[in-house]
Amino acid sequence: MCGIVGYVGHRDVRSVLLKGLGSLEYRGYDSAGVAWIEGGDLRLVRCKGKLDGLEDRLRGHCASTDGIGVGHTRWATHGEPNEVNAHPHIDCTGSLVVVHNGIIENYYTLRRCLLDEGHTFRSSTDTEVIAHLIEKYLTDGRDLIQAVRRALFDVRGSYALAVMWKGAPDRLVAVRRQSPLILGVGGDEAFLASDIPALLPYTRDLVFMEDGDMAILSRGGIRFFSLETGEPVDRVSHTISWDASMAEKAGYKHFMLKEIYEQPQAVLNTFLGRIKPGVSDITLPEIDLSFDVIKGLNRIIFLACGTSWHAGLVARYWIEKWVGIPVEVELASEFRYRHPILNDKVLVVPISQSGETADTLAGIRMVKAMGSPVLSICNVVGSTITREADATIYTHAGPEIGVASTKAFTSQLAALFILGLYLSKIRGTIARDELATKIDALAGLPGLLEGYLTLWHKEAMGLADEFYKKQDFLFLGRGFMFPIALEGALKLKEISYIHAEGYAAGEMKHGPIALIDRDMPVVALAPMDHVYEKMISNIEEVRSRRGIVIAFGEDGDTRLAEMAKYVVSVPRPSDGDINPFLYVVPLQLMAYEIAAARGCDVDQPRNLAKSVTVE
Ligand code: F6R
Repeated sequence: MCGIVGYVGHRDVRSVLLKGLGSLEYRGYDSAGVAWIEGGDLRLVRCKGKLDGLEDRLRGHCASTDGIGVGHTRWATHGEPNEVNAHPHIDCTGSLVVVHNGIIENYYTLRRCLLDEGHTFRSSTDTEVIAHLIEKYLTDGRDLIQAVRRALFDVRGSYALAVMWKGAPDRLVAVRRQSPLILGVGGDEAFLASDIPALLPYTRDLVFMEDGDMAILSRGGIRFFSLETGEPVDRVSHTISWDASMAEKAGYKHFMLKEIYEQPQAVLNTFLGRIKPGVSDITLPEIDLSFDVIKGLNRIIFLACGTSWHAGLVARYWIEKWVGIPVEVELASEFRYRHPILNDKVLVVPISQSGETADTLAGIRMVKAMGSPVLSICNVVGSTITREADATIYTHAGPEIGVASTKAFTSQLAALFILGLYLSKIRGTIARDELATKIDALAGLPGLLEGYLTLWHKEAMGLADEFYKKQDFLFLGRGFMFPIALEGALKLKEISYIHAEGYAAGEMKHGPIALIDRDMPVVALAPMDHVYEKMISNIEEVRSRRGIVIAFGEDGDTRLAEMAKYVVSVPRPSDGDINPFLYVVPLQLMAYEIAAARGCDVDQPRNLAKSVTVE
């Protein structure tokens, strides 16, 4: 969603804002703008389109040695993407600006009232009402913080907000309600941003604002207040281990490609310290549940969206097999409006890379009210989901910048694999030697991935040459290769805009087989597991309708080689349960190369945002 940055300190404010917005580009946007105070005047520069345009417009302004300012990249919700609707939004007097991420639900009513009171609106956004409301309460004689508080009492909706007023040129006011906002603590400077990468070049001491927090940022530091009561509140800063180089492309053409190649390390970081291959043991101290509570669980619910939901679907196969406990995998956007039957014996596991996805968060709030323990799986330390869950297993994959999730997915799988083994160990449902085999297989995974990445990449380039002009793709799999087929299709459609469907291969006869003809590429995922023969039959069905079979199967599988037009070889792991990791990576590479061949904006696909913080 939208990106917000803000700065108070001794640096050239415009370069801090531009650099910050640059590192939030991955969130998706269609216009951008900055505002700063210079010589007592408020300056505002905005434009439609990408940051290059904004940079061009700023070239005429010379650099200053210190400053205060806010910036924004807008992903349109209310009002078309153009310069007038770009943030920052300004009040009637031209002395106050706001940048906002979120949605103001009652903006229409507020706008009508403000128009009646004589305010003039320039844009058709919901955000502009906030600027006018604050203006209104400032003219009543309030100071900035009181005026912002009063204005927000009138507002219904979600917001991460930064306000700058030339009447108080030494401070920014930040407010958070249901939309993430992170503050960076410096010596005599302070930063704000909607995501961590914008802050990393300057500081690793971060404060994650909580819902209902207000903050005043100045060179003297950051002070926190409750939006509701106006009373001061204490917030502690977290020092995070990510550094600025982790949020750079490091010579790769796209973040997505870099992140695909980072997967051996990401998976290793997830299991490091949690599995002990030599002694076949597993520890998860972050699970704050007693053995008795774990033994008493009678159901597990995974709650997630998109790719993270696919991770839950894979884990269902593992956990039902190893732990013998029923598992449900819920799309958070549906679950939150259902009437699920829950109690303290149901473990709810939200899965989220960003830790800020609005639907997943709403689902967590709902289940907590029903008494279920919540154990999140998340990548971003200190994010909202981790704060609201009872406990969190962090994936430690490092920052994921590409909009299409890759390393976050495989590290989620690693965390879920470990969780499944841990539960089976505590509940005594897995034999010791089986546990040892699975731990060793996971420990060997980074090496296997490392060994095949270049080969898969080369094969992906060949497939891209052949298929980049196609308009449709079908992905088929059985067992836990079914969610991997879903994930392969999602990767392809989101970055290349090719229509792609993932299907359980056994369902093909019930509909999608009608689509198959000599033009249709069909990706078949066929490891030599207990459903291999069934998969071979499905491939035959595709062949007899002249579909083009692209098979992903085990190294040396001659039968597959005879049947398929193209074969991508995947190593045979020491334990077949590790296969989802091995099959998804070449699918990511194929999607990447096809999108690149079509000239698509791989890291920022159209209409998509990295972190979906509104419904
Ligand atoms: C697809 C993708 C999305 C996310 C989804 C959930 O490549 O990235 O489908 O997986 O928006 O996001 P998180 O995991 O941050 O909750």
